[in-house]
Amino acid sequence: MTAADRFDLTGKVALITGAAGGIGRVTATRLAREGASVVVTDIDERGCKDLAGELTAQGHRALGVAMDVTDNAGVATAVATAASTFGPVDLLVNNAIVACPIPPKLHEAPTSLWDTDLDVIVKGAVRCCQSVLPSMMARRTGVIVNLVSVNAFAFYGHPSYSAAKAALVSFTRSLAVEYGPYGIRANAVNPGTIRTAAWAEQEAKDSTVFDALAQWYPLGRVGEPDDVAASVCFLASGSAAWITGSVLTVDGGLTAGNPVMARSVEGS
Ligand SMILES: NC(=O)c1ccc[n+]([C@@H]2O[C@H](COP(=O)([O-])OP(=O)(O)OC[C@H]3O[C@@H](n4cnc5c(N)ncnc54)[C@H](O)[C@@H]3O)[C@@H](O)[C@H]2O)c1
Repeated sequence: MTAADRFDLTGKVALITGAAGGIGRVTATRLAREGASVVVTDIDERGCKDLAGELTAQGHRALGVAMDVTDNAGVATAVATAASTFGPVDLLVNNAIVACPIPPKLHEAPTSLWDTDLDVIVKGAVRCCQSVLPSMMARRTGVIVNLVSVNAFAFYGHPSYSAAKAALVSFTRSLAVEYGPYGIRANAVNPGTIRTAAWAEQEAKDSTVFDALAQWYPLGRVGEPDDVAASVCFLASGSAAWITGSVLTVDGGLTAGNPVMARSVEGS
């Protein structure tokens, strides 16, 4: 990370969900490096406590808290613990998902898969927002960043996940309009394929999966977690002071067009 890549978050308190996972871990680390006190939460207690321990050992301010975003009381308790340790949450990053690496076809998918995706992705974000908003409203400041997906806008497989992410885009816009008058900003980061453990099962089946996917990306590669972490830090920072209700697409050009089709059209 060079000086030009820096977004100053000194003095901010950030809470991130699903922080023991691929993107969450790198984002929590980057938020800490930008100066934020980071509340590292995940349903995976060992994972989030280990990461918080590593960040603390590196001289950052971090706290690991086990938090299941589907548990109303647990979310409220974790937000209260964050506030009593570092102060009220300034930045909420809704990132948790239950990865489903090889999703079933729509006609074979159990409704429990829909329940899980909607509960974790949509209602999980709602629960976290409801817990942090009163303090943000009282202080007339705050930032919410929701991790969505290119699946919210076009179909790339996994209907329940796609529908949940589309709902999260809508929720982001609701937040921006309802809470803008309180000085609260809400935006979404919209990644394409990112190389994380969420893909482990597919990678185990086909070690070339990321090379195969790269052909669809005009920039010639899939994304890395830091591509997303940098965007979260930008949206959290004062550099994005007049940006709210937006969707920042971080997809290597995937949704700008279709390079494979373009090559066919051009006869190359
Ligand atoms: N990896 C990609 O290709 C990709 C692409 C587009 C968008 N995204 C988005 O980025 C975000 C992070 O994805 P990732 O690839 O790092 O996933 P990941 O599977 O590596 O991490 C998800 C984390 O969420 C945690 N989690 C699961 N259920 C939870 C619950 N009920 N409460 C709290 N935590 C819970 C898991 O323990 C895990 O640590 C997600 O919102 C995902 O939709 C990822």
